[in-house]
Amino acid sequence: MLPFAEKNVLLGICGSIAAYKACELASRLREQGARVDCALTASARHLVQPAALEALTGTPVITDMFPLVTCPEQGHIAVAQRAHLCLVAPATANILAKAACGIADDWLSTTLLATRAPILYAPAMNTNMYTHPATQANIEILRKRGAAFIGPASGRLACGTEGLGRLADIPDILDAAFCAVHQDKDFSGKRVLITSGPNHEPIDPVRFIGNRSSGKMGRALALEALCRGAEVGMITGPAQVNPPSGVKTTQVNTADEMYDAVLSCMNEYDIIIGAAAVADFKIERPETGKIKRGEDRIVLHLKPNRDIIAAVAGAKRPGQRVVGFAAETDDLLLRAEHKLRQKRLDMIIANRVGGEACAIGADHADAYVLIPGQDPEKLEYATKSHLARTIFDRLLALD
Ligand code: CTP
Repeated sequence: MLPFAEKNVLLGICGSIAAYKACELASRLREQGARVDCALTASARHLVQPAALEALTGTPVITDMFPLVTCPEQGHIAVAQRAHLCLVAPATANILAKAACGIADDWLSTTLLATRAPILYAPAMNTNMYTHPATQANIEILRKRGAAFIGPASGRLACGTEGLGRLADIPDILDAAFCAVHQDKDFSGKRVLITSGPNHEPIDPVRFIGNRSSGKMGRALALEALCRGAEVGMITGPAQVNPPSGVKTTQVNTADEMYDAVLSCMNEYDIIIGAAAVADFKIERPETGKIKRGEDRIVLHLKPNRDIIAAVAGAKRPGQRVVGFAAETDDLLLRAEHKLRQKRLDMIIANRVGGEACAIGADHADAYVLIPGQDPEKLEYATKSHLARTIFDRLLALD
């Protein structure tokens, strides 16, 4: 199940130069399962061609208030009613002002009044326009009415200046959109700690032993927990993906650093999830100088690292929940069940690694959820976001 499966998203695109980025946004929303209706304002039509958006979304683009006779399903009331989310990206000072005042003089502003779906604005404009008291007052009014905002970010602006006003990065807009459509706050008041990514164990100052973990699973868990109202901490090795914004993140390299970071803060959390691909071994004595070529044969002496999640489960207080993952090349269920018992976890997620169905670094994987005393639950070809959702659903059922 994709993150936006069965969700209708209205993407309202206004006349900021960042409008070209809306094509990427529409494409990513579609890729993640949404049905996307794009609406271009009159100014945006100067910047983006409807044909590009139509090709990316497979849906006719709305550019006019009055195609109602020929295309009633594109009418503002029909779209307003079927939308699970109205995402205005880029949102200009003009649309914010119109929405704050309830002005309905074109298709998008009319639809923003007609909808009862959550509304998310991603502003993009010149810094002075954004910081102008009128724009700030309009944002305040919209926030008070329940609208959400993502960005703007700081950086180089199309007008040649540097400052606040860039459209937020697309991954951040997608995260905010995901949170806006998944609104059950069933983990509010809970604190969740997640370990994520690989470890790098130094061999010498320039080389390390690592593994193929991308950090995507840890990121999906963090986003799911955030969206469900939890406070989220993340202790991550050098991953390929950034943690979602809003997560209290500690960056580490080695398994020892991860161990110390986790053990020193575990008492502050209600749920601890070990999604990191922790390095099982470290170099006994990393070289202080770069190892030179020219030797015939180099022998590296390894020694085992401590087991972080087992230490956490061994030291947990009553009521704390500890979840682990099991990465197995063979005897998947047998080994996962063994780790569940041996590490004294409340839940373990078994993934196959190696070969074609490898879960490491992939976006989809088969997985089993194992809980003591319950039959294993198989999730076939699950996305990491679907797996994250299932883990939190099952955690809820444990209480
Ligand atoms: N784990 C950990 N600390 C370690 C090793 C693993 O916290 N030093 C955690 C992982 O984050 C995961 C679980 O333990 O939640 C299982 O990890 P996995 O790599 O499947 O198993 P290992 O315990 O490392 O055992 P093996 O490599 O022999 O399969």
